[in-house]
Amino acid sequence: MNIDRVVLAERPKGEPTKANFRFEKVGAPKLHKGELLLKVKWLSLDPYMRGRMDGSKSYAAPVSIGEPMQGECIAEVIDSQNNEFKVGELVSGGFGWVSHAVSNGKQLRKIPKSNIPEQASLGVLGMPGHTAWVGLNKIAKASPGETIVVSAASGAVGSLVGQLAKKKGLKVIGVAGSEKKCTYVTEELGYDGCINHQLASSVEDFRQLITRHCPNGVDIYFENVAGITLEAVLPNMNDFGRIAVCGMISWYSGKGLQEAMIFPKFWRMVLVKRLRVNGFIIFDHKESFPEFQKEVSSLIQGGEIKYKEDIRDGLESAPESFLDLLNGGNFGKMLVRL
Ligand SMILES: NC(=O)c1ccc[n+]([C@@H]2O[C@H](COP(=O)([O-])OP(=O)(O)OC[C@H]3O[C@@H](n4cnc5c(N)ncnc54)[C@H](OP(=O)(O)O)[C@@H]3O)[C@@H](O)[C@H]2O)c1
Repeated sequence: MNIDRVVLAERPKGEPTKANFRFEKVGAPKLHKGELLLKVKWLSLDPYMRGRMDGSKSYAAPVSIGEPMQGECIAEVIDSQNNEFKVGELVSGGFGWVSHAVSNGKQLRKIPKSNIPEQASLGVLGMPGHTAWVGLNKIAKASPGETIVVSAASGAVGSLVGQLAKKKGLKVIGVAGSEKKCTYVTEELGYDGCINHQLASSVEDFRQLITRHCPNGVDIYFENVAGITLEAVLPNMNDFGRIAVCGMISWYSGKGLQEAMIFPKFWRMVLVKRLRVNGFIIFDHKESFPEFQKEVSSLIQGGEIKYKEDIRDGLESAPESFLDLLNGGNFGKMLVRL
């Protein structure tokens, strides 16, 4: 049996391209006692993978050249020499961009049988959903009556942030990259408004659009994108406002950094508005995962939370789908079905 995999062929210079990846086949290793063979069914594509393509050190180690890209997957046990896992069971784990994996069973999570589709464990009920829940409740400490702006509002993280915020009694304004996404955000997810950032002709125009949607100012900014969205939101922040810094996808490949607001101007705004700016990485919040999962799965089962998936087929589609994700070409949680 062969294993298909997508490896990092070279590090990107600026924006990644398909040439940075290589599709290859390797032989499957022999199974030893205590190990299990897994067939990957679903691969999650997430923006953090862009950072892992660079050689520089971050909060996690980079992917080495020639090694499979990292990524969370859902896989079926197809052979087992480990008493704790039976053939046919579904598990999730960080197997990477591969068709099959061998595991010793450690750091795997069994996917419980449920009426919610299994792949939700990679999105609304997995890492992105947990990020939304932690960012809103523990980092931003949202309260009823406040106004929140959520960027990448139709995406895996943003779509849950806004819905949970609405349930808590906040006024929620989204920012998204097309009219279709904005319509989904307001009509399906129930946001109070949504700004299409593609239509803003300048930072000043964008700033005025935020003012129009948030006449009483912004108490919380859930930051997913940075760039001109951040520049437009900042002047609208109320005194003592909070910014939950979750991601800055528009800057991941270095685009727009030259034109970005100069640091002293930003720092002064943090001072005069007495803002609390709080970056967070979800891996530091593992202890709250069961509480998050219990709450959000019961909201999904009760029809109170909606989610959208952008499903692409075949491991070969992973590089192009990933590039789409970085450029707003996804509509919902980006997944590859193998
Ligand atoms: N801190 C953590 O632990 C943690 C964990 C998970 C995710 N994150 C971060 O959360 C953010 C959202 O992740 P996700 O998985 O939910 O992805 P997503 O929102 O499903 O997809 C990414 C979206 O980013 C938006 N985008 C891309 N380039 C942009 C640009 N130049 N300007 C404005 N928007 C742009 C696009 O939406 P539009 O078409 O609407 O612009 C795109 O659809 C990312 O920054 C990610 O790195 C952080």
